[in-house]
Amino acid sequence: MYKTITAVCQKILGCTGWSDSYRRNDSYGGTLSNRLKIIIKIVEGIKSLTGANFPVIIKMNCQDFIQGGFAITDAIKARPLLSAAGIDAFKVNGGILTGRKKAPSRPGIRFEQDEAYFRMEAALFKEKVKVILVGGIRSYSDAENIVKKKIADYVSMSRPSK
Ligand SMILES: Cc1cc2nc3c(=O)[nH]c(=O)nc-3n(C[C@H](O)[C@H](O)[C@H](O)COP(=O)(O)O)c2cc1C
Repeated sequence: MYKTITAVCQKILGCTGWSDSYRRNDSYGGTLSNRLKIIIKIVEGIKSLTGANFPVIIKMNCQDFIQGGFAITDAIKARPLLSAAGIDAFKVNGGILTGRKKAPSRPGIRFEQDEAYFRMEAALFKEKVKVILVGGIRSYSDAENIVKKKIADYVSMSRPSK
């Protein structure tokens, strides 16, 4: 059993990544570490109820691909702060729902080279933390390669669409 905190863009916690539009001016706004505080409090709350060994995963964007959105540099800065709070694995996602070709869920994958479209970000992100790669993984061979090449520790398949 495990708990996944969904902090991807356009879900309420994902908006904490948006430095332009997340305009709180209390201790939960402003700097990235302030904006992450709400997520950190949730992680700490879960761990205090379940015990430190209960796995907590965060699904978060590696980048939003929009002006003023969460950038890969933000994600890399956020990673140690969230790890220190007790996150056990990062499910690396990206894009926003209206992002068309850069959306989190992309249909029309025909060729293996189009699969796993966040693989580059997952590889950048992966350092000292467990990474789960999601998005466009369709074939067994690609899933196997991702793990063998240590791009990610695990893969996730959600709803492969045509
Ligand atoms: C109908 C549908 C509903 C989804 N709902 C959510 C959701 O509530 N929360 C979330 O984080 N991702 C959601 N996703 C995104 C998937 O979890 C996943 O990130 C995305 O589909 C890419 O993975 P895939 O190519 O294996 O489907 C949804 C996707 C689809 C197609």
